[in-house]
Amino acid sequence: MRLTDTDRAMLDGAHGPAVGRAMDLLVRYGQALGAEQLVDTNNVCGANIFGARHLNYPARTITSHDEAFSELSLDSDEVVEVPQVRAYSCQLIGPMDSRHWELQGLSRQARDAIADSESYSGRHGIHLLSTCTPYQVGNVPVRGEHCAWMESSAVVYINSVLGARSNVEGRESTGAAMLTRRIPYWGLHDPGNRFATDLVDVRVEAESVLDWGLLGYFVGSVVQDRIPALRGITTTPDLVRLKHFGAAASSSGGVELYHIPGVTAEARTEEEAFGGAEPRRVFGYGPRERRETYEALNSTAAGAGDDIDLVMIGCPHATMEQVRQVCTLLEGRRVADGTHLWVFTPSQIRALADRNGFTERLAAAGAALMSDTCPAIGQFLPDGTRVIATDSAKQVHYLPAIMGVQGRFGSVETCVEAAVTGRWPGEAL
Ligand code: F3S
Repeated sequence: MRLTDTDRAMLDGAHGPAVGRAMDLLVRYGQALGAEQLVDTNNVCGANIFGARHLNYPARTITSHDEAFSELSLDSDEVVEVPQVRAYSCQLIGPMDSRHWELQGLSRQARDAIADSESYSGRHGIHLLSTCTPYQVGNVPVRGEHCAWMESSAVVYINSVLGARSNVEGRESTGAAMLTRRIPYWGLHDPGNRFATDLVDVRVEAESVLDWGLLGYFVGSVVQDRIPALRGITTTPDLVRLKHFGAAASSSGGVELYHIPGVTAEARTEEEAFGGAEPRRVFGYGPRERRETYEALNSTAAGAGDDIDLVMIGCPHATMEQVRQVCTLLEGRRVADGTHLWVFTPSQIRALADRNGFTERLAAAGAALMSDTCPAIGQFLPDGTRVIATDSAKQVHYLPAIMGVQGRFGSVETCVEAAVTGRWPGEAL
C-alpha cells in the first residue's frame, strides 16, 4: 500500500501511540481489502459506547475506557491513552435510552457503566448523535464526500440519495478513522465502482412506506451485494420511503448503493446509472413478487396466532412526521393491556416531540417514545415477548433471528391497530 509521509509518520508513532495503533489497523485492513492507498475523510460515524455486555468481553472485566477503546475499537492488545479525535466523528446508535433504561431491563450498574462510556466518548470529541440516522439530525454529507460510516441503512442512504462515498465500515475501522482522518480507498470510494450492474423493472405502483419496504426487501434479495437501478418509478419517494427502501435492501441483500434515475444523486438517467453499459441482469417486480415478498417477511409468524406482544415503530429511527403519525393514529385510543408500543427516534427529534406534546400524548395512550437505541442493537424486549409487529422490513428480518421471537410486518396503520387491539388485523394488500 502506498502511504503518504503523514501516514508513515502516524504509523511510526509521531502522533502518539493511539494514532500509531490506529494507522497500523488501517494499513492491515487496507492490505486485506487490496486497497492501494488511504483517502482523507472528515466524516466518521462509528460506535464507541460500550454496554455491560461489551465491557465484560472476553470473559473478564475491562477496567478502563482507554482499555475498552484500545481493544474493541483499535484491536490493540496494548492499552493506549486515547487522544481527542481528529476527524468530525459521530456516535451511531448505542445500547441504552437514558430515559427508559429501566423499561429496557437494565440494572442501575449497567446504566452507570453505559453512561460512563458515553461520557468518555463525548469528552474525546465524538458527537453523541446516538442514532442510526445521523442524516436526519444534522450530519448530511455532500455529494462526493468521502465518509467512513458504520450502519448499513445509513450508508446506503448517504451513498444513494446524497451521493456521498462510504463503504459499510466496522467499529474498528471507524475508531481508527476518527483518530487519523484516513480510511482505505476501495469499493464505493472509487467512482468507477459506483455504476449500476442490475436493472429492476418495477411493474406495480410504489406509493406507501409499506410499498417501499417491500420493494427494497425484494431488490436486496435478488441483487444481493450488487448495485441496482430501478425502472418504472412514477412517483417521487420522500426521505421516509427511501430510508425504508434502503434499510430493507441492505438487510435482505448487502446493497450499499442504488440508483433511481431522476431521483437519486448520481443518476439523472438510466444511461447515467449504468455508465453507458448494459445491465448485466434484469429482474421484474410485479404483483406476484410483491405478494411473495410480503409473505416472506411474515413467514416467521406462521402458526403464531394473532396475539401481538410488542409493536415497534422507528427502524430506522423515525422522523418527527412519523412520530406525529403514530400520535394521530392513536388519538382517543389506548394500547391494549399486555401489548407494548415502542416508537424509536433520535434524541434530538424526541426533544422536539417533547416540545410539541407528542411524547406526552404517546405516554397517555400507553406507548413509549424511546431514543438512542433499538431492540436489535440493545437486545431488549418486554418480558415474555413472543410476537412482535413492525412497519420495518429490516427489523422483522433481524429481530426473530437475534431475539428468538416471531415477527409480523405491515403498514404503520396496521401496526398501531395491532397495538390498540393486541391482535394482528392482517394487511389488505
Ligand atoms: Fe436503526 Fe436498529 Fe433499525 S440500528 S436501522 S433501529 S435495527
